[in-house]
Amino acid sequence: MTQRTLGLIMNGVTGRMGMNQHLIRSVAAIRAQGGVTLSDGSKVQLDPILVGRNAEKISALAKAHGVERWTTDLDAAIADPKNDIFFDSATTQMRPALLEKAIAAGKHVYCEKPIATNLDEALRICRLAEEKGVKNGVVQDKLFLPGLQKLKMLREASFFGRMLSVRGEFGYWVFEGDWGQPAQRPSWNYRAEDGGGIILDMVCHWRYVLDNCFGEVKSVSCLGATHIPERVDEEGRRYRATADDAAYATFELEGGVIAQINMSWTTRVYRDDLVTFQVDGTHGSAVAGLTDCVIQPRVGTPRPVWNPDQKQTIDFYATWQPVPDTIAYENGFKAQWEMFIRHVAEGAPYRYTLREGAKGVQLVECALQSWKERRWVDVPPLPLAAEASRPLAAE
Ligand SMILES: NC(=O)c1ccc[n+]([C@@H]2O[C@H](COP(=O)([O-])OP(=O)(O)OC[C@H]3O[C@@H](n4cnc5c(N)ncnc54)[C@H](O)[C@@H]3O)[C@@H](O)[C@H]2O)c1
Repeated sequence: MTQRTLGLIMNGVTGRMGMNQHLIRSVAAIRAQGGVTLSDGSKVQLDPILVGRNAEKISALAKAHGVERWTTDLDAAIADPKNDIFFDSATTQMRPALLEKAIAAGKHVYCEKPIATNLDEALRICRLAEEKGVKNGVVQDKLFLPGLQKLKMLREASFFGRMLSVRGEFGYWVFEGDWGQPAQRPSWNYRAEDGGGIILDMVCHWRYVLDNCFGEVKSVSCLGATHIPERVDEEGRRYRATADDAAYATFELEGGVIAQINMSWTTRVYRDDLVTFQVDGTHGSAVAGLTDCVIQPRVGTPRPVWNPDQKQTIDFYATWQPVPDTIAYENGFKAQWEMFIRHVAEGAPYRYTLREGAKGVQLVECALQSWKERRWVDVPPLPLAAEASRPLAAE
């Protein structure tokens, strides 16, 4: 059977996400397995070209992962008809302009979240992609986590009865960088002027997680904070943290479900995982982390009685039951790459479009507005593409 090849421009692969999740865990792994299998049994292989500013760095990265093509000239890569897809995992602030260039050249586009730092730019990119008719997609990796897939299965199996509430705890301590522990996240994350901030970083994830797993988001109340005002960057320089490093949000979802999510880079973990979601329903509850999930049906619910004079006698953890791993879960980034490749190669359905990404940016804006104005903000339906034609500031 004939094998097709798709030329793939990869921008931002020297970064944390680009290198680990997209180049190594996804594209190199797909190449090593001989490509992506299409519905007729044939394979489509990927021919990536890595793009970076530093020739030495990018050529070394290409060599290390068996990639033949690399360049420092993004425009030339976009102009080359050999390349079918443009992928971006570089800085968020540059993303809309780069996507626009690639779309104008007729490339299909796939990118990291958020698709832009503001809704105007996000919608404009959606409209351009839709008008040009190129395939488009955004990373929504959390949906592919085994823990969340288990929650989704429980919901589809009507395990919860009437779902009442969702409580999400996300976070861990990100070192300040000034007392012998270097920071384990890039310093731009803590500078608003560089596209940082935990609300921009995480609320775009929560949008698709809440919409897909628990109910569409209708309204948000959010309080942000910059708990650590100064940090030390990659070069050992002290800088002012101008972006939020924690946020405490409540969401009203379709069906009356109330979701609370705490997100913080300034909290120490005393829970099973870096993110956990507890879902309570009339017929049962579940708690999921990245991979595992435990349940408690209503008939298995213990009967605690409040008595501060007596030491607790119930081992609450022991009253939950694990959801077994009944299928083999793939790396979520790779699974989504394969879906997108099938979408490009044979028009397979694909739901994680730029428009879905724009919904995430919309919720970020609503959350920031809520924080600023100290009030609930309703989340309206996303404007249609034609309505979203306000030009970018640069025009
Ligand atoms: N899906 C997820 O869970 C997830 C997690 C973290 C980050 N992200 C997203 O991935 C993107 C990158 O984040 P990261 O944590 O990998 O950051 P990073 O700082 O590690 O990487 C940034 C990349 O952008 C490149 N870059 C920076 N400034 C540039 C410039 N002026 N010109 C050209 N290239 C430039 C860098 O060389 C590097 O390759 C962000 O948009 C972020 O929101 C997604």
